[in-house]
Amino acid sequence: MAISWKTVATLASTLFYSQLAAAISPIVSPVWLKDNLNDPFLLVIDIRPEATYAASHVPGALGIPFGYSSLWAEQVEGDTLRMPPAEELLPALAGQGLSANTSVVLVSSVATMPRGMNEATRVAATLQYAGLPTNQVGILDGGYEGWIKNGGEESLDAKVPTPGDFNGPVDETVVVERPEVKASLNKVDEGIVLLDARDTASFDQGHIESALSLPQKNIWNSDGTFKTVDQLWEVYFKGVGDAPVGPDEGEIIVYCFIGLMATGWHFVLTNVLEFENVKLYDGSVQDWTKEYQLVTA
Ligand SMILES: *[C@@H]1O[C@H](CO)[C@@H](O)[C@H](O)[C@H]1NC(C)=O
Repeated sequence: MAISWKTVATLASTLFYSQLAAAISPIVSPVWLKDNLNDPFLLVIDIRPEATYAASHVPGALGIPFGYSSLWAEQVEGDTLRMPPAEELLPALAGQGLSANTSVVLVSSVATMPRGMNEATRVAATLQYAGLPTNQVGILDGGYEGWIKNGGEESLDAKVPTPGDFNGPVDETVVVERPEVKASLNKVDEGIVLLDARDTASFDQGHIESALSLPQKNIWNSDGTFKTVDQLWEVYFKGVGDAPVGPDEGEIIVYCFIGLMATGWHFVLTNVLEFENVKLYDGSVQDWTKEYQLVTA
């Protein structure tokens, strides 16, 4: 039986994709994205506001804007930003085309830094919470502006999602609540470390007892690109010192004001530096101060 070259090419690409599709780099370069736009396993999600997406986006990208009340988040009990309930999040993601085999590249705007990247890292944490493996999530380095700067094509065609089969299961261990944080105070020597991702001035004005300061704005360059892995390690060690925490050691809880900025370090530690045990205090200072005071010493 004669096999056409077309069949061979299709078989080869099927094999190629089935071996390689799932894992992507957590920091996606515009050049890589350009080369992989037609990968059937890849879902590019643009989280900028609807009108901004409509005006120009990566070809084939889906627009799912980030907001405090959106597919990605909800506001509850006086908290600005919380993980959405699983029974809403999972079907919403599947409805937007997510399947268990999908890798997601997130596109945000870096016009306002670090805000734009914080939204992308928050969405990455939400996808991890939803149960998508961390090696199936990447963030476009330098945001949409970086895409354009690198000669990326602009599209106006709104993508219509084809529903997928994504169904979690939700990983509740991604987030911690107030009692777990309370139980983790003053345990740095035991390798349980609270990291405050806000800027130094905010930390100095008041932070959760025994937390260490690790401002998240130091993760990125001013153009919204990530610092190199070596530089990220350097920033990390500057904040954490010789506390016994590392990729396979100890436990880190990151927090900020509302649980947005903290996801910068959550993403870098979990997805980029591959720490096993990093948790997000979803309610952060906003939740903590309902019961406890911040301290200055
Ligand atoms: C991924 O999974 C979905 C749902 O099972 C399926 O429809 C789709 O064809 C798969 N994608 C690829 C590229 O195999």
